[in-house]
Amino acid sequence: MSLIIRNGYIVGETHIRKADISIENGKIRTISDSSLPGNDTEVKGTDEIDAAGSYIFPGFIDAHTHYGLGGVTPTADGFFDGSLCAAYGGITTFIDFADQEKGKTLRESAESRIEAAKDSILDFTLHQGLYRMHAGIPKELSDLRSMGIRALKLFTTYKKFGVCLDETSWDELFSLCKDLEMLITVHAEDDEVIDKASKLLHYEIPGPEFHPLFRPAAAEYSAVMKAGNLALKHQLPLYIVHLSSAEGLRAVRELRAGGVEIIVETTPHYLFLNRKYLERENGSLYLMTPPLRDLLDNEVLQQALSAGEIDIVATDHCAFTKEQKFEKLDCREIPFGIPGSEELSRVIYSKGVENNKIDLVQMMHLLSATPAKVFGMYPEKGSLLPGTDADITIFTPQNPSKLNFSTLHSRSGYSVYDGFTIMGKPSVTILRGEVIIRDGQFSGSRGLGKFIPCSTPAPFKKL
Ligand code: URP
Ligand code: ZN
Ligand code: ZN
Repeated sequence: MSLIIRNGYIVGETHIRKADISIENGKIRTISDSSLPGNDTEVKGTDEIDAAGSYIFPGFIDAHTHYGLGGVTPTADGFFDGSLCAAYGGITTFIDFADQEKGKTLRESAESRIEAAKDSILDFTLHQGLYRMHAGIPKELSDLRSMGIRALKLFTTYKKFGVCLDETSWDELFSLCKDLEMLITVHAEDDEVIDKASKLLHYEIPGPEFHPLFRPAAAEYSAVMKAGNLALKHQLPLYIVHLSSAEGLRAVRELRAGGVEIIVETTPHYLFLNRKYLERENGSLYLMTPPLRDLLDNEVLQQALSAGEIDIVATDHCAFTKEQKFEKLDCREIPFGIPGSEELSRVIYSKGVENNKIDLVQMMHLLSATPAKVFGMYPEKGSLLPGTDADITIFTPQNPSKLNFSTLHSRSGYSVYDGFTIMGKPSVTILRGEVIIRDGQFSGSRGLGKFIPCSTPAPFKKL
């Protein structure tokens, strides 16, 4: 099977250039300036896409999703639905999470999550949650590493859900990860700070607008510092997921100044939404953890994005229906999480590139190359190098229009970006050479996605 994409502007690692891409057997074959003599991209029997006026990115990667969560309040988007949203969002690979399941080894936990994801349209890999240490963990981590899972998830909160790894175990974990070159990713909200803040609050039924008071930015500062200081001790890189606040960023800056290698992920909602949304009548729809912060936090994070202090923008897509979100009134009981995979590139392009906060090359690094490098999937993913997977997103600028949920695909039934001015969208998504979205039409298939085993995370190569 072969395909040629002509006349598009390729967004590369350092600059943008007009070129044609030829694809064969799922791989990128050539990238060439067709106007130059000798650069002939003619391949017989090929399908052609004219990408004139569009930008060509290495397929976007959503480095933080929660599709297909079960339990008492299952997520609205399973692996098929979530990956469908992502495909419409120009994403070709996503990274989801495996719980450390009781009675199972880490490898068995990961394998059961891979099985759960068998309906995925897109390629995916996993971060493995680690909630309890025991004598078998060194061997289990080593087994996990051999199956290509090289990132762990450490929760500093959610004690009541049994996922918060006791702080007395962190030192051992950091030491093991140093030896195995596994990347620790941290949900940074210190439960001790949250508990203290909560004790000072006396509301009978605190609604969504009180959520930021129960989970203050000081909790993010504290957790980033605790994990960061341990990373310094062990000379280990550290990855902070969904950084939400100026306080959290202050901790990152302090640690980086002290020589810690910290990779920072944030989300479109912490960049462009704030706690005012929680005060709306439908405030529950905007509830996630960490909570939305202040306008000032948005501004500080946007400046950090422009300045290159933020490495990755991912979504934390964890969708619930409106019914699920409105069922409970107390902010501590409303299911945490919002959808976002489909909106990711539209929002980053419209609010970031079109508003001159970042350029297209930065957008490419934030959404494609850096997540692929950081999680050990580069250059197969996150690049347009000849010989690598032909995962490609054609992104087309358009006249400003208001984002309307009716054009999106999440089973949650809403978008927190409804009404945002949108100035471009992915028009074609290609996974390993197969066109799966073209001009709004889905032509992929259930189960097309594959588990991607990862190699050494790039931050370890720098040390
Ligand atoms: O509210 C959120 N973020 N839900 C998903 C779980 C998490 O902490 O990332
Ligand atoms: Zn989290
Ligand atoms: Zn999450």
